Amino acid sequence: MELETAARAVRENAYVPYSRFKVGAALRAPSGRIYAGCNVENVAYPEGTCAEAGAIAAMVAAGETEILEAYVIADAAHPVPPCGGCRQKLAEFARGHVRVTMATTDGATLQTTVAELLPGAFSTDHMDRS
Ligand code: THU
Repeated sequence: MELETAARAVRENAYVPYSRFKVGAALRAPSGRIYAGCNVENVAYPEGTCAEAGAIAAMVAAGETEILEAYVIADAAHPVPPCGGCRQKLAEFARGHVRVTMATTDGATLQTTVAELLPGAFSTDHMDRS
């Protein structure tokens, strides 16, 4: 519930003049603290950042590097899944079993895990030549 509240609240601040699609994300870290982020678009479209990236940046800036649970919310007909880049970003800080809840502002939710979102994830193991 804390994650949902934080994600809903931060979503209101999304800067989305181009897509008009507000997204909010919230993460729970080992300290129990919740970190939130919203999407921030840019007139140079590829420079825009996703809500998940904002939440991860807030967590790391606060000195934490582990995600225990994630929540993403948007105003859509169906729960919105994190984009490919955000799946990789989440996987950097979350174990495979970590729950990711995707929600709509109307209250529909869908649950998955980081491993389900990014099967076969690239990791440091893949840089090992031995
Ligand atoms: N977006 C997110 O912030 N997170 C997601 O998981 C999916 C997409 C944003 C990026 C862009 O600002 C808008 O939604 C439309 O793609």
